[in-house]
Amino acid sequence: MKTGVLPSPEPSPASPLAGDAALAWQRDYWHGLSVRPGLRPVIDPADTNGAKNERIDACHEAHVRRFMRRLRLGRLGTVLDFGCGIGRHHDLLTSLARRYIGVDIAEGMLARAPGDVRLIDGTHLPLPDHSVDCVFCFWVLQHTVDDATLDTVISEFGRCLYAGATAVLCERRGPTRGEPGRPADYIRHREPAEYRRLFARHGFRLRRLQPIATSWRWPRRSDPLTNQDYLYAFTS
Ligand SMILES: C[S@@+](CC[C@H](N)C(=O)[O-])C[C@H]1O[C@@H](n2cnc3c(N)ncnc32)[C@H](O)[C@@H]1O
Repeated sequence: MKTGVLPSPEPSPASPLAGDAALAWQRDYWHGLSVRPGLRPVIDPADTNGAKNERIDACHEAHVRRFMRRLRLGRLGTVLDFGCGIGRHHDLLTSLARRYIGVDIAEGMLARAPGDVRLIDGTHLPLPDHSVDCVFCFWVLQHTVDDATLDTVISEFGRCLYAGATAVLCERRGPTRGEPGRPADYIRHREPAEYRRLFARHGFRLRRLQPIATSWRWPRRSDPLTNQDYLYAFTS
């Protein structure tokens, strides 16, 4: 299961980027990764035999299904997969909703994604007001490193969702550490309180928060609750 350390596909910027420059950097970074086989573009790019990524993916699916079941959202109309990547969650989401729309900033990711997928600029959504029942967003907002850009993204979620609809996120918390094989500042971990504050600015309320497995194994009681992935459900 051990994976090698890869060189970064793109040089890391010397200082943290913001706004359009940060989005452009993310777009190029993910587009570059999109050519790697299997799940490598969206989980561990260095997992050459694929077994680790398959197990992480199965673990995520089980956690998300259980989390969504507990939310009792019923059969959904339209679900928006924000930052859908290669469409890893397409089958899960189409089993819960009548209509699936995926959006992503990286063209190469969308070329591999099934279903109705659309290229976006990283902030604005090509969807009418109040037309979406659920926004789903897995490991994406942590790559929107500056709060001003994230604020625009969350306001777009609020515009597109029906009143009372839900945004489900999975993001990592805890100190932002370098990750093997990744540029240093491609990610920013935020604490649940930060997401709560950013979503509250647009009228969202945190309904459920749950830690999930940190890696390719199920969590143990002894695991620290920092530097873990958390599932969030915000209600608009
Ligand atoms: C770690 S991958 C996760 C992909 C997918 N959600 C999954 O779980 O398999 C991050 C994805 O977010 C996309 N992304 C990053 N920033 C974005 C933004 N501002 N708007 C849309 N997509 C974005 C990337 O292109 C990439 O496909």
